[in-house]
This record gives sequence, structure tokens and C-alpha cells, in this order.
Amino acid sequence: MNDYSIGIFDSGIGGLTVVKEIYIQFPKISTIYVGDTARVPYGNRSRETVIKFSSQIVEFLLKQNVQAIIVACSTATAQALPALEKKYAVPIFGVIEPAAITAAKQTKNNRIGVVGTQGTITSQKFNHFISQQNPIATTFSQACPLFVPLIEEGMLENDITTSAINYYFDSFIGNEFDTLILGCTHYPLITKAIQKKVGDTVRLINPGKELALSLHSEKNFTSNIKTNDKHKWFVTDAPDTFTKSANRFLQLQLNIKPEKINFD
Ligand code: DGL
Repeated sequence: MNDYSIGIFDSGIGGLTVVKEIYIQFPKISTIYVGDTARVPYGNRSRETVIKFSSQIVEFLLKQNVQAIIVACSTATAQALPALEKKYAVPIFGVIEPAAITAAKQTKNNRIGVVGTQGTITSQKFNHFISQQNPIATTFSQACPLFVPLIEEGMLENDITTSAINYYFDSFIGNEFDTLILGCTHYPLITKAIQKKVGDTVRLINPGKELALSLHSEKNFTSNIKTNDKHKWFVTDAPDTFTKSANRFLQLQLNIKPEKINFD
């Protein structure tokens, strides 16, 4: 019998910030994680490519008999989720809609900022769900492509990261949003530095947390959860690098020993 009920995937390690939130909301959940570390980043790839890579991962997870899948990557959610939902019968959940709904409900001045990868921002998926929920809200978007490599280098609070934040935010904060969606799996790791830049009055939204909270009311998620606290990890490149980054990202001290798989 399959021990792992929920499949989770990301372009690499960033999805672990989502995993962390899932574990907080669903302790002892059993999961299979795929990090496509050989093909990261997805952030500036074409929609066709992101759909192709995401489909290969979903098919791999289905072969492991998972009962539901979480797309723990904003770019893959933005570019591929509708295509995946059409193609596969398994329930699939992404990180964009729950965060957009929370932001749209909580903004007081109806001005919402969104930061993410180029692919996520170009897709306008956050804007779409925000205006569905709150038609009078205005969404301001900013792609921040330098953030992912800086965060992967562990540069969470140094001068280089501060410069990159200034570079993207100096004019962006002029939009006076009171709510800001950190629309990329990596960005919650620089929450402190971003909060410092935008000021304490701006509420930051972490999509992984919003997704995890929203899953409590998804019956085809909750009814499929196995709670034997087992986790399996797969990567498409260097397992050791993943383990080191995983401990830094998750800060949960899990004993992660990923297995290498190949999609080519
Ligand atoms: N996981 C991606 C996201 O959330 C960031 C890294 C990448 O570009 O693949 O958009």
C-alpha cells in the first residue's frame, strides 16, 4: 500500500517554504516532494515549457499513487495549473488563488502589491483572482528576478539583497498599497528585509501559508490525507545540495535524503 498520499512539487527548493506551512497546518501528513532542481528556474521560461515540466512531474507523482497534488511554485501555478487541471483527474491545488483572496479581503485602501518572477507577473493570475474577489481593488505588480538567486545563495539580509530590494521597490512603493503578496516561494525568506523597506503598515501575505490554511476546507484534500508522518523526496539534480538548502529553507531539521530522478 502507498504510504504517501499528497504529492508536492516545485521547480527546486523554494517549494519547501510551502511544505513548512503545510506541516504546520497538517502535522503528521505524509508527502512526496519533487524538486526539479536540474531545470530551475521556471521563472523566466515560456508557458509551454512550464506546462511540459509540470506535466512530467504530475505524471511521476501519479505513478506514486498520490491522491492529491500541491503545486508549491507560484510560476508553475500561474503558467500551468489550468492545463494540469484539464489534463488530470486528481485534485490539484496551487499557491495563487488563496493568497489573492486573502489580500483582496484584507486590504483597506483597495491597493494591493504583488511581487514574483517574470512568468508569474506576466500571467496576471494574482490580478485575476484579486479582481474576482474585490472588483474595486487595484493591483500593482513588480517582477523581481534577482531575488531567487540571491536567496539561493543564502543572502537573506546583507547589503546586496538590500540593494536589490531598493532597486525593485524604490518607485514601486509609490503605489501606496497597504497589502503586498510575496508571490514567489523564495520571497518569504526575505520577509524581514522587505518589511523594513515597505514599512510596518503594509501587510505581507505569504501564499504558502494562505494555501495551507485554505486546504482545511478542501474536502478532496482533507479526506485524502494519510497521517503516518512519512516523507519521500525526489530531485532531478545533486541530492546533497538539496539537503543542505532544505535544512536552511525548512528550518525544521528533517532528515532529508532525496532520491535523484530524471525526466529527459
Ligand atoms: N518556485 C518559483 C516560484 O515560486 C521560483 C523559482 C523559479 O523561478 O523557478 O515562482
